[in-house]
Amino acid sequence: MPFDKLNELSEQKDRIILGLMSGTSVDGLDLAVCRFSDSGINTSYEILNHGTVDYTDEQRDILLNFASAETVNMEKLCIYHAELSHWHASMIRSKLSEWGMAASDIDLIATHGQTIRHAPKRIHKIDGLPNSTFQLGDADHLAYLTGIHTVSDFRQKHVAAGGEGAPLAVYGDQILFNSPGSYRVLVNIGGISNITILDGKGSGDLPVTFDTGPGNTLMDQVVRQRLSPQRIDNGGEIAFSGKIHVGFLKSLKSHEFFSQTPPKTTGPELLSPSFVKKALEESGSSDLPVKDILATLNRFTAETIADSIRTYGNPPASFSVYISGGGVHNRTLMWNLQDCLPEADVMNFDKLGVNADAKEALFFAAMANELVCGNRFPVLGEDGKIRIVRFGRISFPD
Ligand SMILES: Nc1ncnc2c1ncn2[C@@H]1O[C@H](COP(=O)(O)OP(=O)(O)O)[C@@H](O)[C@H]1O
Ligand SMILES: [Mg+2]
Repeated sequence: MPFDKLNELSEQKDRIILGLMSGTSVDGLDLAVCRFSDSGINTSYEILNHGTVDYTDEQRDILLNFASAETVNMEKLCIYHAELSHWHASMIRSKLSEWGMAASDIDLIATHGQTIRHAPKRIHKIDGLPNSTFQLGDADHLAYLTGIHTVSDFRQKHVAAGGEGAPLAVYGDQILFNSPGSYRVLVNIGGISNITILDGKGSGDLPVTFDTGPGNTLMDQVVRQRLSPQRIDNGGEIAFSGKIHVGFLKSLKSHEFFSQTPPKTTGPELLSPSFVKKALEESGSSDLPVKDILATLNRFTAETIADSIRTYGNPPASFSVYISGGGVHNRTLMWNLQDCLPEADVMNFDKLGVNADAKEALFFAAMANELVCGNRFPVLGEDGKIRIVRFGRISFPD
């Protein structure tokens, strides 16, 4: 029976799960092969292999277009919902072969898909319509193409239960990285930044978690627009050479999102080129050199993270901040973060024993582990009620 495999998995001593993450930066697919035993707060895990396969320029352009265009061609959307799974299946095959692994070594795939639209009410603002989010890349295709049972669409149940579908990382952060007695802030700086505050008190409450605003997305957009074919500000070197423009920074920070009370989420729909253009115009700095724009956006990312921790995290006099995601490679951003948080020790996530680029793939693998072990999680709805649900949808390979 097809369900036997799932029952066996839940009873196995350990499970090998391949986590896949492709975030709003659309830089590539992060893969992490993880071994889990047990589940919930008793979970133990080990990352056996991890890596990233970059998208080709053509693939990236197609995905970025879906993510940013006001209107899309429906036939193309339909086609690429299947095609993205072909790309991911081929990336999986190439990485497994590089690692000397076979598909049969993997018990489950946990795939996030590619968010091409994040539309909570906060963003779409249409009366009477619900929160919503959409990830491209059909999981039945991926399961069929790889021959591996696949768990996908982790965000939908969160939305159905009254959440915004993000940030989800908190569930894994609490299971994998909570340390009783120590106050830790976990920050993932991908396209968007989100924080999880682990206060170490073990009260059983869901930790404070929310999107703080930009990660790398605004900086990436400016580099692509003005310095193409360059795609990123490598190491934050351009930002390092520029000057922060105080008026532009103030105008960026004046957007209502930054004064909204969490829980809150955002996406490239808000943090878009027109958002930057408007702030440049408002501050009378439309002719600002690109290095100063990047210096200011870099500082903006750091300040909005630091402000969020101070305003909503109730931090002690000194504490630790662990940074994951691609932002950790931006040395200017890491410097700015430390500068904005002198009372904290701002560190690379690898200090917790997990590679910063593999952390989100590990998280989705952990969520698949939770699903097959039968665990459920609380979602705080916008009505203030908590509902207990399972995250993820299962696809069979045949
Ligand atoms: N060497 C680097 N220097 C500066 N920024 C980097 C570097 N490597 C990655 N990044 C930034 O990290 C982003 C990717 O981060 P990632 O965590 O994968 O985000 P996402 O989850 O949105 O895909 C890139 O788009 C880039 O902005
Ligand atoms: Mg990425």
